[in-house]
Amino acid sequence: MLIFYFDGFEEFAKGITDDDAEIGKFSIETFPDGETLTSLNIDVTDKECVIIGTIEPPASNLFEVAKLSEAIMRNGAKSVSLYAPYLAYTRQSEAGVGEGNTFHLICAMLRVAGIDRIMTIDPHGKVALGLSFGFPVHSVDSTSIIAKELENIRSTDKDIMIISADRGYTNNTKSIAEELNVPYLILDTTHGKTEIIVSPIEKSLPKHVVVVDDMIDTGRTLIMAVKALKLAGAERFTIYATHGLFVGDEWQELFNLGVSRIITTDSTKKAREVAEKDKRVQLITLVGMFRKIFERY
Ligand code: R5P
Repeated sequence: MLIFYFDGFEEFAKGITDDDAEIGKFSIETFPDGETLTSLNIDVTDKECVIIGTIEPPASNLFEVAKLSEAIMRNGAKSVSLYAPYLAYTRQSEAGVGEGNTFHLICAMLRVAGIDRIMTIDPHGKVALGLSFGFPVHSVDSTSIIAKELENIRSTDKDIMIISADRGYTNNTKSIAEELNVPYLILDTTHGKTEIIVSPIEKSLPKHVVVVDDMIDTGRTLIMAVKALKLAGAERFTIYATHGLFVGDEWQELFNLGVSRIITTDSTKKAREVAEKDKRVQLITLVGMFRKIFERY
């Protein structure tokens, strides 16, 4: 087994490797015109290879992953698996009339580049249900680690409810609530081209609610969810979003609305940077979970 990892994924690489796994060496050279060349500094012949990285924007990340995979495949590796803790573009895995399907395209590109399968955690929507485009996308959900974390809240605050900000996180929400033995609610949220609408909430709510979603991008969905929940009587909020993209500053508005803590994971570099600066953002690591996927597949 040979593990290749990109910058920012050293902890994941160290966390999942055992004594039998070797770290693969590669280099990327940039020419004056901006073109890059990927070279392997290790023999990959007949080896099972793993790439740990991200395909999230900027597009150069996707391109570098594809190029590394192509180099590994062309040099005779037995297989190439991509381990991406945050699998970008899964929000675009279904296309409406007149739209392109970017996730489909990316899977096709990665397939051509030699990737045999993708491993990830909490992808968006149907990808979590096993939708794949010509090759396996294995995913596991982060329920067990977040439920463990939320157990602390429940031990001091018995009356809590788990509320999904979006239907895309329904299955995870149910599992978290079941594991904690607390009620749950799935908000009826519509993402329009220019606005996000959360339908009025009829149910009676406890004072403290835990709002969950697969990701916090700009934070707008969670802001709208928290506003609707406040109107329905909730007062205190803890947020859990598996993947923290933290784009722009808007998400900080959450702290003015009664949110005391945003819990997220170390799946993105941005989440690690934000948590380092702001102690209200708490990071839980996915490394242990990744090791389990690694051992299972
Ligand atoms: C929506 O389908 C997703 O589950 C998230 O709710 C959404 O993408 C988060 O984006 P933002 O933080 O920009 O509202």
